[in-house]
Amino acid sequence: MSTENDVVKVMKQEVGKAAAARVKSGSIVGLGTGSTTAYAIEYLGERLKSGEIKDIKGIPTSFQASVLAKQYGIPLTTLDEVDHIDIAIDGADEVDPQKNLIKGGGAAHTREKIVDTLAELFIVVVDSGKLVDKLGSTFLLPVEVLPMAMTPVMRALEKLGGKPQLRMAVKKAGPVITDQGNMVIDVKFDSIDNPAELEKTLNNIPGVLDNGLFVGVTDLVLVGEIKDGQPLVREF
Ligand code: 5RP
Repeated sequence: MSTENDVVKVMKQEVGKAAAARVKSGSIVGLGTGSTTAYAIEYLGERLKSGEIKDIKGIPTSFQASVLAKQYGIPLTTLDEVDHIDIAIDGADEVDPQKNLIKGGGAAHTREKIVDTLAELFIVVVDSGKLVDKLGSTFLLPVEVLPMAMTPVMRALEKLGGKPQLRMAVKKAGPVITDQGNMVIDVKFDSIDNPAELEKTLNNIPGVLDNGLFVGVTDLVLVGEIKDGQPLVREF
């Protein structure tokens, strides 16, 4: 593993740990998806096992989160069984200065948006490389689409000025299939000037389930950084 990868891993571990440390006994916890949240789930499991906290229940945002929660001994529940979520911890692919996000690098943004927006406290965990001045500058915008609507949705995205591409799987022939059995189109927009408007416009295209813009939902961002060779966690 290269040194750069090691540094990013340390930043992800530190923010994951810092977010897990904020979970209190008795909480219903939204469990996000991705490599950073995976550390939060791991540390949450360790806190439960050591007896530092008790009686928490997780609501997973993906098969990945559900598998990890089981692995680390976190009991799971569903949205049918609870009337609130106390806290959700999730990663992001880009974070702008207004705490708006692009998510969906793990193709889980539809379920993530359901769980994260229901949480009383939504904490985003990222390494410093995810901070951008403007959304869309480093990451394509994921859009989850019903398979039978793929072609008309691609056309509609092009009409909006986007450059759409179907997300292809790694270690599986063909496209990525989401946990709901749909496909993901990653869209390059030259400039996302109004994320709130674009989020609504995209979700209005028939056949679109949801897109990766998360606008006005983040309460707190924990950023993993390295300063003078030491990892630290900054809040904003
Ligand atoms: C999954 C997501 C992830 O939270 C996002 O891709 C960040 O992942 P990572 O922590 O691995 O960088 O939105 O759909």
